Amino acid sequence: MPKESTYTAKLPDQDGIYAYTPEEDAIWSELYGRQIALLADNACDEYLEGVKTLGLDAPRVPQLKDVDARLKRATGFGVEGVPALIAPSKFFQLLSEGKFPLATFIRRREHIDYIEEPDIFHEVFGHCPLLTNAAYASFVRRFGENAVALGKDYSWHLFRIFWFTVEFGLINTEKGRRCYGAGIVSSPNETRAAMVEKACEFRPFDLMTVLRTPYRIDIVQPIYYVIDSFADLDAINDEDIGAAIREAKALGDFAPTFAAKAS
Ligand SMILES: [Fe+2]
Repeated sequence: MPKESTYTAKLPDQDGIYAYTPEEDAIWSELYGRQIALLADNACDEYLEGVKTLGLDAPRVPQLKDVDARLKRATGFGVEGVPALIAPSKFFQLLSEGKFPLATFIRRREHIDYIEEPDIFHEVFGHCPLLTNAAYASFVRRFGENAVALGKDYSWHLFRIFWFTVEFGLINTEKGRRCYGAGIVSSPNETRAAMVEKACEFRPFDLMTVLRTPYRIDIVQPIYYVIDSFADLDAINDEDIGAAIREAKALGDFAPTFAAKAS
């Protein structure tokens, strides 16, 4: 996530409605249309079911309160509109309360293929469908609780767990390997890289390995971690994550498989 964003949060009116322009609806429509086609054979069934449960469709940017109501009916999870960038402590606090923080602006056309900060397409299309799945929603909420309890000294490594699961996770299914991470399902480049071109490394999810793996947010991922089930994912929360992070810090990071960012 960049330190500064050129986007500002949209604010709701007194009825909780966010106003989007016809151009913004058109951008949602284009993004939705191409991703839903690409994901049919590439995303896991739980994600695709979640798209239906939430009633997401092409014509316009969905309203946050509709997503919130449908999610609540499914798993009790909710969403909360936030500015484009929020502090890690606030982020984890919201997750622990069962609220997924949503940036409410949508990208401009110049960023239609790639945007560094999360916009509402990434948030709603990427993150919200799987939050209709009970095991996944439990993982996210309990991960937030663990993160709040551990505090900011652990944030750096907690974001690695989040990155390699919620953002860029893959899952083994009866139909083969499928994607579920929001950074993959909301990005055509990432979907193709992980599911079609596969010029990357796939590793079975292992907590200690993940904790020692550095990542860059602004490149197509060179490494993906693959889980076997969402119940397995939720079981991470039963481990002593704090002790694992302390051990990972003592062991040190693996050498990056990518070039350092030019500054
Ligand atoms: Fe995200």
